[in-house]
Amino acid sequence: MMRVFRLLAPETAHDLALSALSLLGSATPSPDPPRLRISFLEQELANPIGLAAGLDKDAVAIAGLARLGFGAIEVGSVTPRPQAGNPRPRLFRLVEDQALVNRMGFNSAGHDAVLRRLTRYRTRMGSKGPMIGVNLGANRDSADRAGDYAEGIRRFSTLADYLVVNISSPNTPGLRGLQAAAPLRALLDRLAEARAAASRRLPLILKLAPDLAVEDCAAIVEIALAFAVDGLAIGNTTLARPSDLRSRHRSESGGLSGRPLFDRSTALLAEFGRVARGRLTLVGVGGVANGRDAYAKIRAGASLVQLYTALIYEGPGLIGRIKSELDRLLAEDRLTCVADAVGVGLAIPSTPRLAAY
Ligand code: FNR
Repeated sequence: MMRVFRLLAPETAHDLALSALSLLGSATPSPDPPRLRISFLEQELANPIGLAAGLDKDAVAIAGLARLGFGAIEVGSVTPRPQAGNPRPRLFRLVEDQALVNRMGFNSAGHDAVLRRLTRYRTRMGSKGPMIGVNLGANRDSADRAGDYAEGIRRFSTLADYLVVNISSPNTPGLRGLQAAAPLRALLDRLAEARAAASRRLPLILKLAPDLAVEDCAAIVEIALAFAVDGLAIGNTTLARPSDLRSRHRSESGGLSGRPLFDRSTALLAEFGRVARGRLTLVGVGGVANGRDAYAKIRAGASLVQLYTALIYEGPGLIGRIKSELDRLLAEDRLTCVADAVGVGLAIPSTPRLAAY
């Protein structure tokens, strides 16, 4: 099956896989080992492995994805109004590098469509199954991007388990600028109003770029805490192109994900872990392809580990394999739960690799 997909254009394969998943329905996956249970944003997850945003942008396959055994699923990014995104081709496989480059540009069915599908899923499933995060984006032509995120908070706060404000997509011009101190403060100020007005207080996570400098971490953490942000996701795709990439697609413009992103995103996660000192919940995402990678993110401070690109290369059996490997690694270290491993690697001083990247 994976070999057949490989023969198709990347985005065609993606659409086909999602359609297949949407037909899978909602049978429950087999129970996870108790050791993998973890509290995330004050909810109990069966395991710490989550689907990263971007695979099910429009919430068309949540039930099928839930069957794959994720502890949490993030849909989106969703923009208020539907938009087509960038022209195709906009997704490239870097097979030799186990990586992808994408410049999708927030193709989204829009709030209304995603809201409808989430409502249907909730009606069928209630609060059973994985935690559902909704990742919020802004329309490319929006005159008020903060307003777009605020609208997302207002509309999704009854349906989601947590919300993510994605200010790190490299494919919407100017979006990453919202990570700088003054624009971030102004954004979070607007969002505080929307959160106060919402019918329910939902945990809010900021999704950041792996291209931030180590020196940016402290200011971001202090601002996040000042505005009662609950967590940070580190991180999105990178604009960097490591010099050892081999694929012919390496110079395509867009965000790079997968294997080559692992070291950088894990080092930055650890940096945030050191600065935040347990005051924020961290999500580790970037280049996770096996249990050892997931364990490294957890040791660097992540309570939830997300992935996307490795799933494209390895197929749906990957989730089960990662979970059993992680369970074995925890047992080898004589740990009885994931929480006991969160952040234990942070005593190690910041890695010179981060500076050298
Ligand atoms: C993404 N990612 C992403 N992130 C996000 O917050 N909103 C989005 O809409 C998307 N869209 C998207 C599309 C495609 C095709 C890819 C490959 C990725 C980023 C994704 O959630 C994740 O942060 C990175 O891909 C790094 O993780 P992996 O893929 O290395 O496991």
